Amino acid sequence: MVKQNNNKIHPEPLQLPRHIAIIMDGNGRWAQRRGLLRHLGHRHGMDALRQSVELCRELNVEILTVYAFSLENWKRPREEVDFLMNLVVEYLDKEEENLHRQGIRINPIGELDYLPLQVRARIEQAVSHTAANSDMIFNIAISYSSRREIVTAARILAAQAATGCLDPQDIDEERFASALYTSGQIDPDLMIRPSGEQRISNFLLWQSAYTEFYYTDIFWPDFGKKDLQAAIAAYQRRERRYGQLTIDN
Ligand code: FPP
Repeated sequence: MVKQNNNKIHPEPLQLPRHIAIIMDGNGRWAQRRGLLRHLGHRHGMDALRQSVELCRELNVEILTVYAFSLENWKRPREEVDFLMNLVVEYLDKEEENLHRQGIRINPIGELDYLPLQVRARIEQAVSHTAANSDMIFNIAISYSSRREIVTAARILAAQAATGCLDPQDIDEERFASALYTSGQIDPDLMIRPSGEQRISNFLLWQSAYTEFYYTDIFWPDFGKKDLQAAIAAYQRRERRYGQLTIDN
């Protein structure tokens, strides 16, 4: 990867990340610092998301994956969980048509069985509405746990082996990846976590084996297009070697 010294994005497609993943963190602290209730942070976080989606489309990023709600988030106070569930519906009511017009396919990933029925139905409606779009995949991780995803993949393959459909010797990395929610997708090139936290929090553990990480102290509701541009510019200054000494292609 060619190095550059400023914060501007290098426009050549080969140097842009094809898949960006974002842990949308810091909504609660953003609100608390302003003396507001946490849920207002989540609502502003929803508005911030629109900007990142738009920029990704403008730059022809192929896949955007956002962490909207983890499996562990179900343990938050009932009121906050209910608010976040309603926010998913509100988000789709507000943004679905806009996403559709931009050629974006909505693809939820996670333990969707845990969701309230009406939330799940609303998501399924958005999925089928945007199913034929091919300009960008928008993975929304809801009720998501990467360890659970990996365990589920192991179960799927084990069940196939138990019925004789699959020889255990044929399980390789590609086969395993095909049993994950992200089956058929390229791995994230860039993972962004705002809010000053520097951990992966059970997000895309398998898929991020060679992902470049970018951290910033900005809270998610304040994360705008210029912040995403800075993250991409930082990515473009990295040298990706995938464990080798040089990369020829
Ligand atoms: C983490 O911040 C954020 C969440 C648990 C929710 C993220 C949801 C949105 C941004 C809403 C928009 C998305 C969709 C698809 C509806 P936190 O609450 O853990 O913040 P804190 O660490 O400051 O407490």
